[in-house]
Amino acid sequence: MALQLGDTVPNFSQDSQLGPINLYDFAGDSWVVLFSHPADYTPVCTTELGEVARLRPEWEKRNVKTLALSVDSAESHRGWINDINETQQTTVDYPILADADKSVSDLYGMIHPNALNNLTVRSVFIIDPNKKLRLQITYPASTGRNFQEILRVIDSLQLTEYHQVATPVNWKDGEDVVVVPSIPTEEARSKFPKGVTEIRPYLRFTPQPNR
Ligand code: BEZ
Repeated sequence: MALQLGDTVPNFSQDSQLGPINLYDFAGDSWVVLFSHPADYTPVCTTELGEVARLRPEWEKRNVKTLALSVDSAESHRGWINDINETQQTTVDYPILADADKSVSDLYGMIHPNALNNLTVRSVFIIDPNKKLRLQITYPASTGRNFQEILRVIDSLQLTEYHQVATPVNWKDGEDVVVVPSIPTEEARSKFPKGVTEIRPYLRFTPQPNR
């Protein structure tokens, strides 16, 4: 059955351009963004992997490790990374899994044969430090991902995890957040000393607690 949110993600060991990677060992106590791309030496993928490298300080700020994957070899990844570094003005320093035997792609359902035969589509998995799946998104091969959106989701997930708030439509870091329905308003007023605005008993806003 396909992976679902809240599931413990399956562990794996696979080669990468930096040597073998065991997912659970690699993750340690960090959050992980595991993302697949169709193939090395392709234009959209080149821009994406460059952007993920450029965003290194943003991942670190959030205790996130990034882990890419395609079904190309580790040798192919090493050659392509030189091109990414040169054309995207960055340094790719995170592992790209070399899933030539498709074992991880199959385990995580990253190959969608009716869309792209034998290659991985653009899957994204956000995994929390307890190895639970917190988000999955699938993009078509022809659409480069918006990694600012991935960061935004991580900010939202971490606010829920560590501060018991949710984030409303189009929320961005720094904007007011929503008190989760399980917290009564009176309890919310003591829990969130910056103030709680009650629009309806079920619709309560508070300033972002970690700002
Ligand atoms: C690309 O990365 O540019 C790409 C890969 C597969 C299909 C379409 C575009």
